Amino acid sequence: MEQFDNWQDFWDKFLLNRYGKEEVKTEDDLYLQVARTVNRKPVTKEAFDQIIDKIVEDSAFSPDDILVDLCCGNGLFTYELKDKVKQIIGVDFSQSIIDTARQFRSAANIEYHLGGTTDFLKNFRVLCPGIVPGKFLMNDALAYFSVADFESMLSSILAITRDFKFLIRGVPDDDLKWNYYNTEERKAFYKNLQAKGDLTNDGLGTWWLPADIEAVCDKLQLQCVITPQQMPVSDYRMDILISNKPRP
Ligand SMILES: C[S@@+](CC[C@H](N)C(=O)[O-])C[C@H]1O[C@@H](n2cnc3c(N)ncnc32)[C@H](O)[C@@H]1O
Repeated sequence: MEQFDNWQDFWDKFLLNRYGKEEVKTEDDLYLQVARTVNRKPVTKEAFDQIIDKIVEDSAFSPDDILVDLCCGNGLFTYELKDKVKQIIGVDFSQSIIDTARQFRSAANIEYHLGGTTDFLKNFRVLCPGIVPGKFLMNDALAYFSVADFESMLSSILAITRDFKFLIRGVPDDDLKWNYYNTEERKAFYKNLQAKGDLTNDGLGTWWLPADIEAVCDKLQLQCVITPQQMPVSDYRMDILISNKPRP
């Protein structure tokens, strides 16, 4: 599928373009800035807490873990994980969003880096010398990458460590697409986006086929477990837990 090629600008200006706000001023603005919303309102506390609980459970954090939060946004979720692990390295390519993270969601054991995720992982040893993370997270962001980017990220992680868990959450699942476009009006909206050639898909990004994820993991001999999300979080996104296969 043809890819939108200006996501960096899209996210830098998202709060302004969608909500007419120059900067984050309230707690709610943090959610709006990174589109952690339903019907343009912050996700409920119930959904937020469930997301955190699932991240902690699926990642099986231990107090000695070093976590890399890829596309960390403004640290809304990153910050909640700070007491579960030893250190967190967050990376995001939007200057305005990283500035917000540093201003509102900083902690002694969190470093926020400005940068593109694929390059950051490729250059990880130079950018973070001596650090060997065992846990990686990408929350609601794979939709902004191509299959080739996904393979590149996994290959870079394998060059950093052979012993890891990579939890990719909230990937729009093409097989569940009609749960999202579930009224005639929403279906027409989607068809209209396609007819207009809106490659951002109204900001939602690419609908991924689970088979594409499995194919890349198979190629790199990685284990992957794909699980559909549940309400109240979503009924059209999937979570993917990737780890190295145990040696025979
Ligand atoms: C929907 S927001 C999710 C943010 C955060 N993970 C969360 O769950 O709150 C998507 C984020 O991905 C970031 N992003 C998208 N593509 C990226 C890339 N190639 N490199 C770094 N960050 C990226 C955007 O700047 C934005 O902050």
